[in-house]
Amino acid sequence: MAGRIPQHFIDELMQRADIVEIIGSRIQLKKAGRDYKACCPFHGEKTPSFTVSPAKGFYHCFGCGAHGTALGFLMEYDRLEFVPAVEELAARLGLEVPREDSAQQPAPLAPLYAVLDRSADYYEQALRAHPAAVEYLRGRGLDGETAKTFRIGYAPPGWDGLLAQFDRGEETRQHLLAAGLIVPREGASGHYDRFRDRIMFPIRDSRGRVVGFGGRVLGSGEPKYLNSPETAVFHKGQELYGLYEARQAERRLSRLLVVEGYMDAVSLARHGIRDVVATLGTATTGEHLRRLFRVVPEVVFCFDGDRAGRAAAWRALQATLPELREGRQVRFLFLPEGEDPDSLVGREGPAAFGARLGQATPLSDYLLQELRQQAGSDSLDSRARLAELARPLVGLLPAGVYRELLTDRLAQEVGLQPQRLTAALGGMPAPEPPAPPARRAAHRPPGGRASVVGQAIALVLSYPQVAATIVPPPGLASARLKGAGLLAELLQLTRAHPDLNPGALLERFRDRSEGPHLSALLAAPTQVGESGARAELADSLQRILALEREERLASLASKAAAGGLTAEEKEEFRQLQRGQAGSAR
Ligand code: GTP
Ligand code: MN
Repeated sequence: MAGRIPQHFIDELMQRADIVEIIGSRIQLKKAGRDYKACCPFHGEKTPSFTVSPAKGFYHCFGCGAHGTALGFLMEYDRLEFVPAVEELAARLGLEVPREDSAQQPAPLAPLYAVLDRSADYYEQALRAHPAAVEYLRGRGLDGETAKTFRIGYAPPGWDGLLAQFDRGEETRQHLLAAGLIVPREGASGHYDRFRDRIMFPIRDSRGRVVGFGGRVLGSGEPKYLNSPETAVFHKGQELYGLYEARQAERRLSRLLVVEGYMDAVSLARHGIRDVVATLGTATTGEHLRRLFRVVPEVVFCFDGDRAGRAAAWRALQATLPELREGRQVRFLFLPEGEDPDSLVGREGPAAFGARLGQATPLSDYLLQELRQQAGSDSLDSRARLAELARPLVGLLPAGVYRELLTDRLAQEVGLQPQRLTAALGGMPAPEPPAPPARRAAHRPPGGRASVVGQAIALVLSYPQVAATIVPPPGLASARLKGAGLLAELLQLTRAHPDLNPGALLERFRDRSEGPHLSALLAAPTQVGESGARAELADSLQRILALEREERLASLASKAAAGGLTAEEKEEFRQLQRGQAGSAR
């Protein structure tokens, strides 16, 4: 694979890309003041709440909360992965996508894909030569065609069946090792095959390349499954077994079923239920969900009905909440105790299984059921408890129609007006009307009361050219206030790259955990103008430093009361009391 795309190129792309043209070539945009409007392509609506801001290089839907840069739009709308979206954008601008030269780039990945693919071939052949392995699969209800679709194979017993397929050169050894296919001998030179006497399930990425394997013992034995280790091309928490095969089987998928086991995915496919993926023995992650929603609008989780299954479902729900929005649907299917999808579809057949799927529980119902159970029986107390339990969960939802709907349902449940519940839930805003942003408080993030740090960050993101002229005050980077470090980092970034526009700034945080928070802040309307922004930013910084001083004073005071400040802290305390803090630390 080629080297990384350098950051400066993404910066340039974001500066040159015309977001109005890119989105306008896919949906009908109408000019509205300085922005453009449309009916949101990501959820059904009749009055337009989808806004494109050419100044920010950013789109945002007040209805469903969808938002992002031109690049983000291509990923969402055209359902592209990051690199193809960059390529698409670059092609429009007539630019060649540069790659970092291989000198500084980690070892190239092509040889890893090559040895993985050849190994899959070898395991497939070996399966045909080992009747016991074929028998095992037959016994589990699989046929040749399904095995072929999934490239299921067999790793023979013996220490070097796979090794013998390759040349003995040092380079090839390193590739096999890096791909996780062989293991170094302990206390001796040489290597041996990682997978021996196991049914082999190749795990393919979204392009169909083999990135790793899961290997199952025939019959009983420990461990039941052996998976490839994490490698440069294989990340367990991201891949979904069967996704490539599902997309191959059906070009226009509308839903994906998520099961826990390799055999579940394969066995359902064998019975004609092809829209299935399996996680790789890990909990469901946000990355999984993002991948799924890039392909389909509906996800159905399928869990065992036992306690472990319930616990896994609850974790999946929590991973799902931040990814929810209008137009995305998630349901949960709980199986009878002692059954997994493989056993059940075998016993009941695909029609009955399909009927169960049709009756899977919507996420909001499951959430309420679960909260009711956690909160206990129906008394006033339990309602308060329910509201309390719901609070952190509702907080995970992005602002938008979906969150409002769920808040309404919770309100019904606890018998409060939605507004009062919202207040009880701790300052989440009452539903904001999708009205033009003119009269709304400036730069208020759609997450509730903006903290002063949040306000400052929103200003930096919206007016990076203004931020570039501001020297981050000393002490900001090390301030304890939440987000202060991020604010300092952003100020530094705009100073170092004064020509970054909001979209480019945001793209720099695409892979960071702060990314979603930053785009939510940028999505909030800012109408203060450049000079307004300068004044407000200066003011926010003052307030942040003052707050920081207050908090530090309070914490030193309580420590002093409890008995002891170091000499250094005493000095700091004195300085702070004299109001000369800031640079004291
Ligand atoms: P069968 O027993 O063949 O029906 O397998 P299954 O696919 O139904 O697996 P099971 O429900 O027991 O486990 C679900 C998933 O967890 C598997 O597909 C594996 O990804 C993972 N898993 C299960 N057992 C092990 C193990 O011993 N080691 C590792 N690393 N993963 C396991
Ligand atoms: Mn099973």
